Amino acid sequence: MREKIVAGNWKMNLNLEEAEALWFDLKQYQNDEVTVLAFPPSLYLGRWAQDQGNVFLGAQNVFYEQSGAFTGEIAPEMLKSLGIQYALVGHSERRTIFGESDDWVRRKVDALLEEGLKVIVCCGEPLEVRESGQHVQYVSDQIKKALWHLDPTALSHIIIAYEPVLAIGTGKTATPKQAQEMHRFIRELITEQFGAEGNIRPILYGGSCKPENAKEIFAQEDVDGGLIGGASLKYNDFKAIIDSF
Ligand code: PGA
Repeated sequence: MREKIVAGNWKMNLNLEEAEALWFDLKQYQNDEVTVLAFPPSLYLGRWAQDQGNVFLGAQNVFYEQSGAFTGEIAPEMLKSLGIQYALVGHSERRTIFGESDDWVRRKVDALLEEGLKVIVCCGEPLEVRESGQHVQYVSDQIKKALWHLDPTALSHIIIAYEPVLAIGTGKTATPKQAQEMHRFIRELITEQFGAEGNIRPILYGGSCKPENAKEIFAQEDVDGGLIGGASLKYNDFKAIIDSF
């Protein structure tokens, strides 16, 4: 059976007091069937890493070198030394606002795997690509550039998050059918490349997932959970999303 995962991506939100209040509630949440992850601003990871409760912490971003003169960056090795086990890579905001290329995404995947971290690799097409009908090719290219060089054994540390860019922070989700179609396509693609390993890796949906729509999205056969932005900032909403499984 495939693992179910619900991950909260807090992005650049919440001051320390607000963040600690959310973290305090969250780490006590218990759900034996769903792996719950939180990606707060990296600044807070060190405070909480030794006290992860029932929830695993992850970093929203990381660099692909393990040390050196890279002002402002965080190394996978540093995350590992704190006891952090997860990182996001290739989020569409990193790609579009910060110019993260496919090459960087691949190098970050490698650097994280080298340290034994689990990687959520984000993919998803911009609106104009969806409208032009090229979305399947676009997502396929992103995934191939990030993962095709890997050995199948590395796949046990890879989780994919499909986030159509039109849905991120806009209140508009892909329809459950669109999500299912893309998730099925991704699963078949990675299974074709990596064999049985590909078939059992979780694929998460992201983009305006909220308590009102999570149940329908999570009910899709190939959707194994969610990467939740805005709705992860309120404990009750996030909990309701996890409980939708
Ligand atoms: P959203 O963000 O839930 O606020 O749309 C999702 C994401 O960007 O991971």
